[in-house]
Amino acid sequence: MPYAHITGWGMAVPNKVLTNDELSKMVETSDAWIRERTGIRERRIASDSETASALGAEAAFKALSMARLLPNQVDLIICATSSPEYIFPATASLIQDKLGASNAGAFDLLAACTGFIYALDMAAQSIRSGALKTVLVVGAENLSRYTNYKDRNTCILFGDGAGAFVLQASEKPGGVMRSVLHSDGSGGKFLFVPASGSHSPASEDTVRNGLHFIHMDGKEVFRFATRVMAQATLEAAEKSGWKPDELSLVIPHQANIRIIEAAARGLKMPMEKFFVNLERYGNTSTASIPIATVEAVQVGKLKPGDKVVFVGFGAGLTWGALAAEWTGPILPERTIRAEWFKPFARVRSLLRRLLRMLEGILFGREP
Ligand code: COA
Repeated sequence: MPYAHITGWGMAVPNKVLTNDELSKMVETSDAWIRERTGIRERRIASDSETASALGAEAAFKALSMARLLPNQVDLIICATSSPEYIFPATASLIQDKLGASNAGAFDLLAACTGFIYALDMAAQSIRSGALKTVLVVGAENLSRYTNYKDRNTCILFGDGAGAFVLQASEKPGGVMRSVLHSDGSGGKFLFVPASGSHSPASEDTVRNGLHFIHMDGKEVFRFATRVMAQATLEAAEKSGWKPDELSLVIPHQANIRIIEAAARGLKMPMEKFFVNLERYGNTSTASIPIATVEAVQVGKLKPGDKVVFVGFGAGLTWGALAAEWTGPILPERTIRAEWFKPFARVRSLLRRLLRMLEGILFGREP
């Protein structure tokens, strides 16, 4: 049975920074309050062109370069997102087109902020079963498009960004170990976008009443999160045969520093073992764990052979954790700049559209 190794990682965030001070000019809040209650100092806000798929593709190109792979070597793209560009097609398909990943299947996975953990688990299972060799997992968000900048309860929390991992099959032991995935749909209304889906399609009323924005019962979500983070981390570690004190690092969903501190207390682990960068990006939902991972590697906090647990929670309610032995690139050293294939991907996409048009003209559109 092959093992599933994490061999590439990348991130992309918008250029525009929205600081707490700027937010305090939009709603009644203050930098001091936000920092004390959440730990967040600033977040990134996407421009019109920095769509979820654009950010996702940029992160994916970097992850592929890190893994020394070309886009056409990817078998499957899973995009975990809470802010898909459309109900359909999947944002994963838009990313596949932007990458020119001509041999990849693509689908979106919705488990809100826990989505990246769910997607990693699905990718690892596909590899361990022997069905696939190379899977790209992307967390990509444009949450600012669903954020009500008149609601101080939510607008202080969320930001935009994307992160990506490449998972590859190898006979060498290690890589993704065990995971736990949980859901409790009875808490669905604590964090949700009331309209947009088939339950409440867009209407004048839904727009007037702000039902296309994120609605949240912050206290309930906080209570739930502090309860499940430590428990899920422990479950994933124990299933992998590890004790908490053997862990080199925990990379938690970056929602609120107080939630992470509560998890550290619950696990009786020092905060130094938890990677935190939420002060600069806020809560980027599915992108927060891969973005944190990229920065953890950059500052030398995560090295090959380290035992790491990724843990997340979010709307659904959902929560989960995944344990892995950190690997790094497994292919022989060679310089690959996957992003150089960007223009080829664009030309490929244009040619395919053109060909479809020509076919329609020459042979008619009847089947
Ligand atoms: N600025 C200033 N004051 C604010 C505020 C803001 N942005 N938001 C709320 N307040 C006020 C409240 O009105 C309340 O005032 P009152 O005591 O006069 O009624 C007071 O601050 C305390 O509000 P409360 O809601 O109890 O604050 P809190 O400590 O629970 O913090 C959250 C609010 C949202 C930061 C916190 O509940 C939280 O982080 N929850 C989890 C959210 C989350 O992680 N969601 C994503 C999950 S993936």
